Amino acid sequence: PRVAVVVVAAGSGTRLAGGAPKAFVGVDGHTILHHALRSVFAAAPAQVVVVAPASRVGDALTEVDATAGDRRDLATVVAGGETRQDSVAAGLAALWADVEVVLVHDAARALTPPEVFARVIAAVDAGHDAVVPVLPVVDTLKRVADDVVVEAVDRSVLAAAQTPQGFRRAVLDAAYAAATAEFTDDTALVQHAGRAVHTVAGADLSFKITTQADLARARAIVAPVPP
Ligand code: C5P
Repeated sequence: PRVAVVVVAAGSGTRLAGGAPKAFVGVDGHTILHHALRSVFAAAPAQVVVVAPASRVGDALTEVDATAGDRRDLATVVAGGETRQDSVAAGLAALWADVEVVLVHDAARALTPPEVFARVIAAVDAGHDAVVPVLPVVDTLKRVADDVVVEAVDRSVLAAAQTPQGFRRAVLDAAYAAATAEFTDDTALVQHAGRAVHTVAGADLSFKITTQADLARARAIVAPVPP
């Protein structure tokens, strides 16, 4: 395929404290990874590389089997690394030769609508090297030091970054090959390598499951509506 999605799911989930690596914590009858893969496989056909904790590769394959449908042959699972960046690098190493556009997606953003994948792919196809879905910031923000507000921050010039983030494959490969520092997301790494990053609209449903409150929110969203 021309497009690939690297789904990073190798985090430990320390902040969630869900009793298992985060991607394998249950939302309803299904795990966070299961929900994430459902939206990945509902988006445009692509190679899918799931990056799982080394001890959970078999469990990740079970989730791929359960969600890929007729796209099973497009999906593989590889073991992740110490940091998110190591895990993305492991996923990039598994890309097939014909892939030209790469999306990197956090499994923890389990309820991301398939339309966001489409918007990101369309923006890369329109010629952007790197694309990030964003939401406006709703909170009033302060810069704080030692429990004192230093100044108000103008939120109108800020945006909250989500995933999937999309790239021309050559750009992302080169940025990863050159990276010497750790970045919290892939567009930051690519921007550090000197490339412009374009934004598209993100989605409220793409929120990242990090804390128990986030997990409760995801559970409420997927819960069946009582009759
Ligand atoms: O920890 P955080 O929620 O920011 O992680 C974002 C995503 O990166 C998660 O989906 C997590 O599974 C993944 N990750 C990874 N390998 C790591 C750390 C995080 O795949 N070593």
